[in-house]
Amino acid sequence: MTAVLREARIDAAAIGANAALLRQRIPTPHAMAIVKADGYGHGAVTAARAALEGGADHLGVADLDEAFELRAAGIDAPVLAWLLDPAFDAAAAAAAGITLGISARHHLARAAASGHRVAVHVKVDTGLSRNGVAEGEWGPFVDELAAAQCAGGIELHGVFSHLSNTSPDDDRAQLVAFERFLDAVRSVGLDPGIRHIAASAAALDHPAAHYDMVRSGIALYGIAPERHLRGVLALRPAMRLSAQVVGVKRVPAGAGVSYGFLHRTTTPTTLALVPLGYADGVPRAAVDAPVVIGGRRHRVVGRIAMDQFVVDVGDAPVAVGDEAVLWGDPTAGEPGVDEWADAAGTIAYELVTRLGRRVHRTTRAAP
Ligand SMILES: Cc1ncc(COP(=O)(O)O)c(C=O)c1O
Repeated sequence: MTAVLREARIDAAAIGANAALLRQRIPTPHAMAIVKADGYGHGAVTAARAALEGGADHLGVADLDEAFELRAAGIDAPVLAWLLDPAFDAAAAAAAGITLGISARHHLARAAASGHRVAVHVKVDTGLSRNGVAEGEWGPFVDELAAAQCAGGIELHGVFSHLSNTSPDDDRAQLVAFERFLDAVRSVGLDPGIRHIAASAAALDHPAAHYDMVRSGIALYGIAPERHLRGVLALRPAMRLSAQVVGVKRVPAGAGVSYGFLHRTTTPTTLALVPLGYADGVPRAAVDAPVVIGGRRHRVVGRIAMDQFVVDVGDAPVAVGDEAVLWGDPTAGEPGVDEWADAAGTIAYELVTRLGRRVHRTTRAAP
């Protein structure tokens, strides 16, 4: 088979193994696998199936359309969608058995008026100031929630929030606010159902935040959510990004490389051309990032362009058609995606979710 020019190889077995490891280490009654943004760039359906096989029992996405995509693929596990557009179709969500993450009184009113009994998790703002019911609204919100439940328009299945991961103290303050909201829900005679606030970071290092379910996103894909959590669990990276070398050139000392000549060679050397650029999701800022070619580690030199970048391979015997690996499995001698994130001054989340359409995805199925 001819090798593809640019390839993101997705290892579904790794996602399944990560889900299983998280399930084993974090003993909550439920575990939600977050597969929004096309499964963090790994393929939502692939990631969802692998995570469910690994032991997750809920799926989480941002948009309702992402939830419909899972249903269209025949996935029938509980799915929560929490970033609702103003005119969201609550009836269609209910018909598809999708749980709505409601964040505001207007969401509640819309869900309750749909003519269906809509399953909801209430999202509460405990300090992040993004979506979630704002504290000033908690009183009227829980009254309206109780009325809607009583009238049969909604069914409360859970209450959740999201942490800022700023500091242990900030997280603790959010947990205190979360408890206050849970009390407000109980005060109107409702059972909060599944309580959840921890994403990967708190799942890994904040047991007090585990409640009834953790929502693991980035950890599922084998990536640590924070620098200090790198290596705390033996998670397996699920994405490997590579391309074929398309040009090799011997240059003298003093050769300028790529736009703006950010780099000039200091000795005679060999430059390898890799056909990946910022149009493919390789960040322009990642000058100096590691690339493995022929089992040896080299560095990006000069400006990364839209379609290509240059690697200085010194005197290594690199040829056109060799595979250049940007990120993959460090235990196999490949660079980690975190190294690329560090080189670009960003986080690995951004790298895996932003691969462009020209990158061919190959999925290795779970066994
Ligand atoms: C509400 C919510 N829960 C869970 C997650 C998963 O976060 P992580 O990828 O850090 O596990 C996200 C991601 O942004 C989120 O928005």
